[in-house]
Amino acid sequence: MPSATYAATAPRGQAFEIHPFDGAVGAEIIGLDLAQPLNDTDFARIHRAHLDHHVVVFRDQRITPEQQIAFSRRFGELQIHVLKQFLLAGHPEVLIVSNIIEQGAPIGLGDAGKFWHSDLSYKPLPSLGSMLHAQELPSEGGDTLFADMHKALDALPAELRKAIEGRQAAHSYTARYSEPKFEGDWRPRLNAEQLAQVQEVIHPIVRTHPESGRKALFVSEGFTTRIVDLPEDESRELLAELYRYSVLPQHIYRHQWQPHDLVFWDNRSLIHLAAGCPGHLRRKLYRTTIQGDAPF
Ligand code: SIN
Repeated sequence: MPSATYAATAPRGQAFEIHPFDGAVGAEIIGLDLAQPLNDTDFARIHRAHLDHHVVVFRDQRITPEQQIAFSRRFGELQIHVLKQFLLAGHPEVLIVSNIIEQGAPIGLGDAGKFWHSDLSYKPLPSLGSMLHAQELPSEGGDTLFADMHKALDALPAELRKAIEGRQAAHSYTARYSEPKFEGDWRPRLNAEQLAQVQEVIHPIVRTHPESGRKALFVSEGFTTRIVDLPEDESRELLAELYRYSVLPQHIYRHQWQPHDLVFWDNRSLIHLAAGCPGHLRRKLYRTTIQGDAPF
């Protein structure tokens, strides 16, 4: 029984529904207002939905950056992106993802996610999950795609599974750094201090989700550079095969953004990709990134 004091001060529960999508992964959360304080029961339902569906979409969230930060913090410590120039003024926990140029300079990271990746897999403690909150959306394009890496692992043929057994791969922030895929020069040079923050790391190719215990493939074309202890050509071929199985169409959810969507995904279960939009259309989202565990 809650104590009288707790009952008097605990936030009231909200009546919201969780609707799994028809496809591979993902669920929509309807009727929840993240601008209101969340009680522990509602938080536990959201946490469960995130683990079960890997990506959850909260519609119509009129929240401030402070509220996004506070909600994100309930899942863990927040990570600050190495590109300091794209952090929201006064809120370094928020990375601006945007193609907008103001006074001749980009206001955010314009080509974030242009290769399939799991956020911050290039860190010793990669991200548990990320939240993107839509601020300005283009009238055309701008979708984000999510691919289920548990299903990717399950889909691997036996010989491929055997080839990666017990193996590790290197991840680097700079793996694709000088390869802008779309228009614009979004990637500022990294100074020595920034380079020191993104030294190459080694992670297992198959990781175990620390909360669900499920195994998932943990490599991506965005940040994985090589398989440890394999000749370069073998490593390249094996990675190409793994990437092919990572993005089978039946394992993908394509998010078409609606105004004020907040999307929260699990980087331990998914990789994601920004599909891009015509360069003249403005797109701006705020990202918070929650730190996870060392992959095992
Ligand atoms: C990201 O990779 O965090 C950005 C995804 C997007 O812009 O759709």
